Amino acid sequence: MIDIVVQALWFMFPAYTTGPGAVFLGGGRRMDSGRLAKDGRPLLGKGKTWRGFFGGMLTGIFTGSVLAVLSRMYSLPVTDFRLGEGVLECITALLLISLGAMLGDLMGSYIKRRMGIESGGRLPLMDQLDFVFGTWLLLAAAAPSWFFSVFTAWHAIFILVFTPVAHRITNIAGYYLGKKEVPW
Ligand code: CTP
Ligand code: MG
Repeated sequence: MIDIVVQALWFMFPAYTTGPGAVFLGGGRRMDSGRLAKDGRPLLGKGKTWRGFFGGMLTGIFTGSVLAVLSRMYSLPVTDFRLGEGVLECITALLLISLGAMLGDLMGSYIKRRMGIESGGRLPLMDQLDFVFGTWLLLAAAAPSWFFSVFTAWHAIFILVFTPVAHRITNIAGYYLGKKEVPW
């Protein structure tokens, strides 16, 4: 039980840091360049910037690298994000996790805009889990044997329950740090 919790959090930690990374490093050019979709609403909205996208990805790769080195150094019973198979394999795994998270985040915003919800508006569960599904989908597609060998249905169930709670806490923190306009 404790094993599942620790391993699931360890595995998802890089993905969790992409959001805060995007918040702190974001700004500047919008990814949709202000373009509107056919419905007359923004394609992605003002909350999605290139700096945030790549800043979030780099944040995930960086924090994941720290975890990978720690798990190798101390032979921890958690994933080393494939560092044992080589640095390139590790970077690839972390890139997939972080890219998946940022793509999931974009997909969430795209769906919210299509539903007529403005940037920063709430869509419970989507706001909290879009990046999780993005990570899982990309890993299942691009590195299924590794992903399914270290991440089981039990890990997934724990993450689906834990993430909305953790997400809320970090967003409230971001709001009080003046980085977010709304506390969600
Ligand atoms: N951010 C960014 N670029 C991204 C993702 C996030 O610049 N690709 C930054 C933006 O400053 C954004 C903040 O991180 O406002 C919070 O991200 P998020 O909650 O995903 O965006 P929202 O502003 O809430 O917009 P949306 O309704 O589209 O989710
Ligand atoms: Mg939001």
